[in-house]
This record gives sequence, structure tokens and C-alpha cells, in this order.
Amino acid sequence: MPNHDILDLQPAHIRELRNRYERAMADHGYDSLLIASGAAPYRYRDDQAYVFQGFGPFLHWTGLAGQEHSWLLVRPGQKPVLWLYQPVDFWHANPVMAEEPWLEVVDVRSRQQAGAPELDSPGRLAIIGDPLVLEGVPGDHNPAALVAAVEETRVHKTPYEIECLAHANRIALAGHRAAREAFLAGDSEFGISLAYQQATGQREVEAPYHSIIGLNEHAGTLHYQYYDLQPPRRPRSLLIDAGVRYRGYCSDITRTTAGPDEPRFTALVHGLEKLQLRLCEMVSPGVDYVDIHRKAHLGIAALLSASGLVFGLADEAMVEQGITRAFFPHGIGHFLGIQVHDVAGKPTPSPEDAPFLRLTRTLEAGMVVTIEPGLYFIPSLLEPLLNGPEAQYLNRALIDELKSCGGIRIEDNVVVTAAGARNLTRECE
Ligand code: GLY
Ligand code: MN
Ligand code: MN
Repeated sequence: MPNHDILDLQPAHIRELRNRYERAMADHGYDSLLIASGAAPYRYRDDQAYVFQGFGPFLHWTGLAGQEHSWLLVRPGQKPVLWLYQPVDFWHANPVMAEEPWLEVVDVRSRQQAGAPELDSPGRLAIIGDPLVLEGVPGDHNPAALVAAVEETRVHKTPYEIECLAHANRIALAGHRAAREAFLAGDSEFGISLAYQQATGQREVEAPYHSIIGLNEHAGTLHYQYYDLQPPRRPRSLLIDAGVRYRGYCSDITRTTAGPDEPRFTALVHGLEKLQLRLCEMVSPGVDYVDIHRKAHLGIAALLSASGLVFGLADEAMVEQGITRAFFPHGIGHFLGIQVHDVAGKPTPSPEDAPFLRLTRTLEAGMVVTIEPGLYFIPSLLEPLLNGPEAQYLNRALIDELKSCGGIRIEDNVVVTAAGARNLTRECE
């Protein structure tokens, strides 16, 4: 969908938010709600601030991820008011707002002061945002029941949000293609990160999360956070988990590429990709997301067996004995939206056999989730098995051979639709 069509969907998104918020406020007895964008705190004994990315509910209305010290007021029956912090300041530039359709359904005002605006007869007032910027502001600060209701308004995405997420996928995939080419051309992690930024037109600090770019063993650290300046002598694998923000909305995509002389690792990557596609096909209204996680474990067990990494155990026994968890220790995914790990995914705690699962709900149309199975060679998780009774089932020589490939993760972003699912990642590959 071209960008201008996406922009045309935004006023309806804001009208829908007004309805959802008005219901939440009525349910919890509030007449007015002030939302703080937030501001980056300064580092201790330093004049430099941390990197800023705005508060989720503020972005949900405005998409303005970099706008500090700004405020949005919601009152039933009235146009929302957005106060943008635009001081006269010769050190910094103020953001320029493009003329876009959403500005017709919001009352935008400019403000020189960083603190909260004074409100005319707000009635019973709630204020939500980072407590650091709420100090001394009158009103109920972050009332828990209202905050939970406001987070629930983010669970079912509007058509505008879905198109923003689709576009965030399109941009990120251009980055993933460039990253893969840079890897196959022999680039370092740092070089691959530059290729990704160049292709996406996005600086690392603007990304929804720190891009994870791991070569060889580094691919086995789930959230590997450094970039080597030099490529390894023998590049065996690349795992890149990287997204972009588009109008506040995040993509969260992982791809794994085997080096040219890695037949066994290549087969494992293909096997995991087939499993990942099958799991994506499970996404549909009425499906318990925890079941997708459990199916992923059975699929990993089958792959461990087929590749010869584990032998002599039925798939179910491999799962029950915790062997699949040593190879696949994280959850199958999470909600995705204005935050990469979007809110309201766990009204009930994760089950005991899936402690890191971030989403425990039954799927409904309008939800957007990631599907991200992995298979890793993580020494701290495999050593206890290799030194315990499970060792009899493990192919130590093959594990040793593959562990310097680190691991595999394949991650797509999927919308639950009335008819089943729409895979935002695959549709633009
Ligand atoms: N990029 C973090 C995650 O996949 O959840
Ligand atoms: Mn993810
Ligand atoms: Mn990811």
C-alpha cells in the first residue's frame, strides 16, 4: 500500500482510539486523561542523556517516537489536544510536522515549557507516563486499572496500524537482503550493521530494539549485543534479528544464513524454516498461542532426530525430558505493535514448561504476533545434558561440529485475520 493511502487510514484509527479510550475512562470513572510522551533522563554526573523512545500510549495516538516533553489530553466528546514541546533553542532543532490527514482530527498546540500543561476544569483526572516526568503534576498518576484498560486498547490493531506494521516489514526486509549480501561478501558484524542501516535508512538509535547481528558462535547468544569490527577467518553463519520503526510501529524479523561450505548447518536452517512456516499456518482466531509454542517443541524434537543431533528418544520424550528446551530456550513469540514486545500479552502467567513465553492468550482477529522458533548450540545449556544421563541420547561429535555456527532463529510478523492469518514478512519477500 503506498504511503499516502496509509496516511488516509490514520484519522479513522484516531476515531477508534477515542471510542476505546472513552469506554476505558468511563469504566474507571475518569473525566480526563493526560498522556506524557516522556523524556530521556541524563546519565549520572554527565550532561548526556540516554537514547529516547517515547511512551507507548503517546505513540499509539501520535506515532511520534522521538518527541520529548509533549502531552496528549483525551476527554470524551472532544478533539484530543496534543501539546508539542517546541522551545526556542539554538542548540537543538525542533521537529517539523508534515501536513498530514491526522492533524485534522487532533488539536495540535505548540509549547515552550517542558512540564505538563495546565488544564481547564479537567474533572477527575488521570495522568499516565514515565513517573520521572509526572512529579508534582496534579491528578491520579498511572492508576493501575486504567493503565491495564489502556493497554488492552492496543491488542486489536486497526487497519492503519496493520498497514504501518506491513510497511515496517517492507523496509526491514530490504535491510535483511543487504545484510545477507554483506555476509556472503565476507563483511564483519559491524559492516553488516552498516549495510542494514544504509538499506533501511534508519539509524541504529531509531530502531525498535538493538539489532542483533551475530556471526558464528555469536549467533548462539539470543540477544547478542556487540559488533566485531573484523570478520571471522571462516564465516560459518549469520543470525540477524533486526526491525525498523515506521510511524512508531515496529517490525521484528530474524533470518539465519549458512556460510557456503556448511551442508549440515544449511540442512538444519532449511528444516527450521519449514517448521517455522508450519507454525505460521497455525495462526488463526481461536487458537491458544501456548499450543503453537508446544507444537514448536515437538517440531524441534523431530528436527533434532532427523538431523541426528539426538537419537534413541521419541519426540514427546525429548520434550518431556527438557532436551528441546536446551536447544530452544525462549518463547515462540509475542505481541507486536508500537513496542516490539507489545503489552497485554500475559493476563495469565506463562505455564511452567514455557517460563519465557511472553504471550499466553487465545488468538483473535486483529492481533499481531511474531512466530520465531530457534535452535541453538548454547554451551551453558548443553553442558549439563552432555554431563548428565541425557548424554546417551546426544550426538556429541555433531554438536561439537555445529556449535561454532551458534544457532538459528527465523522470525516473521503475522496478523490474525477473521479467515486465518496474513504473514506481513513473507508477503514482501
Ligand atoms: N528481537 C527480539 C525478539 O525477537 O523478541
Ligand atoms: Mn520477536
Ligand atoms: Mn526478534
